[in-house]
Amino acid sequence: MQNRLCEMFGIEFPIFAFTHCRDVAAAVSKAGGMGVLGALAFSPDQLELELKWVDEHVDGKPYGVDVVMPVKSADRDAGLHDPGALGQQLRGMISPEHWQYVDKVLAQYGVPPASEDDSAAAGGYAGDMIGDGVLGWAESKGAQQIDVALAHPITLLASALGPPPAEAIERAHAQGVKVAALIGRKEQAVRDVQTGVDIIIAQGYEAGGHTGEVASMVLIPDVVDAIAPVPVLAAGGVGSGRQMAAAMALGADGVWTGSVWLTVAESDMAPPVMEKLLAAESTDTVRSRSMTGKPARQLRTAWTEAWESPESPGTLSMPLQFILWSYAMRRITAAGNRELLGMPVGQIVSRMNKVRTAKEVVYEMIEEYIEVTERMNKELADA
Ligand SMILES: Cc1cc2nc3c(=O)[nH]c(=O)nc-3n(C[C@H](O)[C@H](O)[C@H](O)COP(=O)(O)O)c2cc1C
Repeated sequence: MQNRLCEMFGIEFPIFAFTHCRDVAAAVSKAGGMGVLGALAFSPDQLELELKWVDEHVDGKPYGVDVVMPVKSADRDAGLHDPGALGQQLRGMISPEHWQYVDKVLAQYGVPPASEDDSAAAGGYAGDMIGDGVLGWAESKGAQQIDVALAHPITLLASALGPPPAEAIERAHAQGVKVAALIGRKEQAVRDVQTGVDIIIAQGYEAGGHTGEVASMVLIPDVVDAIAPVPVLAAGGVGSGRQMAAAMALGADGVWTGSVWLTVAESDMAPPVMEKLLAAESTDTVRSRSMTGKPARQLRTAWTEAWESPESPGTLSMPLQFILWSYAMRRITAAGNRELLGMPVGQIVSRMNKVRTAKEVVYEMIEEYIEVTERMNKELADA
């Protein structure tokens, strides 16, 4: 394919793959798309190792890094800036009532009391979410990740929940790195373009992870028109060639995908979660604050339900709720409890019902994209 995003990045297909798994990121880039590694779960040292690995396994193909830069969070509100002290300071802001509620919910599902082995037992996504439970959600931690990312030959720096700081955008540009930001409302797209962002990722309601209230079908053309000629990537509900063709028809220059990579062969997903994802329908997902404190689409579980119940003390703000979630997930994973075990995923989970390689996903998407555009062209020619 030839379009301005393919030319901008020197890629064959305008398929961008968000993933926390380095193997998936490298595999998508090697297949002609653009792998983007989510930095959120990694400490600066771990991120350095992950990116070194990608550099060694991506065969010189372009790849990107994604960080989270919440415009609003508990650490920002409280003016906390010391990444070393942050975990302790934020924990001090969580009420005993909230810790007790977590213990109560876990006890209801037969999860034994906390033990020191829990963190060792937790694997995959939940295993990464240990440490102080703050991760890159906090501004000061995200800034450290940007420093690490820009020391590698990345071609794209993306950020969620807010644009990267102006100074980081300038640094990226000085190195020839393009900057993208995820948005869920047209006004956020206009704001981020004014901050200096090069590409807007318009993410609709059906997406996995943090998502707004406007569906992709409505959001994408609105954003395309509001910020033209700035390129737009369509996110939310794209996992097949038909969905990609629809996104391009709405005016997007390419697609930004997340959920579909969770069930590829290269994914490091823990087996019980993989099984749940392969079996889930669209209606098995829910937009809930119970994981991070901001609405994020994920599998509906006993955990998401517990925070909806009348007994719930109410979810906390980001990243306080995530500190509770990581503590709980460590215990839930160690106990192997399936009812409480969850994962962010979008409504396209209904179509993720067999394991394919990342390359197969890219190629099948492109083959179907070609088929559907040819069919539509033929219909037009026959008319
Ligand atoms: C498991 C999971 C974790 C995610 N974490 C992040 C993240 O850390 N940063 C980010 O920018 N987007 C994150 N997202 C959102 C994706 O970048 C992407 O916008 C979204 O998955 C697109 O919709 P889809 O899930 O329908 O493909 C996450 C999505 C999933 C499924």
